[in-house]
Amino acid sequence: MPVKYKITIVGAGNVGATAAHWAASKELGDIVLLDIVEGIPQGKALDLLEAGPVEGFDAHVKGTNDYADTANSDIIVVTAGIARKPGMSRDDLEATNCKIVRSVVEQAAPLSPNAILIVVSNPLDVMAYVAWKASGFPKNRVIGMAGVLDTARYCTFIAQEIGVSVENIQALVLGGHGDSMVPVPSCTTISGIPVSEFISQDKLDTIIERTRKGGAEIVNYLKTGSAYYAPSSSVIQMVEAILKDRKRILPCSAWLEGEYGISDVFCGVPVLLGANGIERVLEIKLTDDEKAALQKSAASVRKSIDNLPF
Ligand code: LAC
Repeated sequence: MPVKYKITIVGAGNVGATAAHWAASKELGDIVLLDIVEGIPQGKALDLLEAGPVEGFDAHVKGTNDYADTANSDIIVVTAGIARKPGMSRDDLEATNCKIVRSVVEQAAPLSPNAILIVVSNPLDVMAYVAWKASGFPKNRVIGMAGVLDTARYCTFIAQEIGVSVENIQALVLGGHGDSMVPVPSCTTISGIPVSEFISQDKLDTIIERTRKGGAEIVNYLKTGSAYYAPSSSVIQMVEAILKDRKRILPCSAWLEGEYGISDVFCGVPVLLGANGIERVLEIKLTDDEKAALQKSAASVRKSIDNLPF
């Protein structure tokens, strides 16, 4: 009998509901959409379920306020928390979202002891740490989503600048999900051709700066919330890599114990994602500048972790 996976998405806001949408349309499994607000997860889940006959997907989608419905999930995606308003940094969300993420994970993890947790709430790397601590799960089963999103933004801008298909861009954005993130020019190619063959360093620097502020660019337009199409699409790429055991190499926030000379912090690095979650952290060769930028970014995440109330 083929296996049908169970995917829980906590938080039925824009990111959570859109993630449910991508997951259902890709038929990755049955979906439980949970939120503390009564009616919202039920309404959005039913609405999405009713798109099934049109789109031709057979995923079951259930909305709930009850953690009992999430029992035995294969994957739990945590999107719960408040989002940024214009002028706020991701770190401004730390105290509030720490309480929310901790409470979510303390309720969900015991009911799905074998699940893989993917954290999307901000400040991302710090919330991944909170989820890891609150779950007691091994480090390979707690992953932060940021690098896929930051890399997608970087690739979008490069493709636009050069005038080629986004599918032809291969790149990596590492480090913490904040202003210190580290786009890696030495790993940026256009169908295998170094990016420097196409654009000047000046242009690339402008793109790197825009990537670092990519989240704020959207917040400034939306005013009442933050991005959700690309963030939800990014998390579902990770879910798919895990559920299909694809062994994809993707930049994700992982707990580091000495890799790149970095320890005791969640930080974006290239990892191999498969059925066991993070199956390997890849230590690739970076230029001295890139490595120093990565270490600096990790140090700034560590500082935020040290500010946590526990
Ligand atoms: C962003 C938020 C989700 O980067 O962190 O858009």
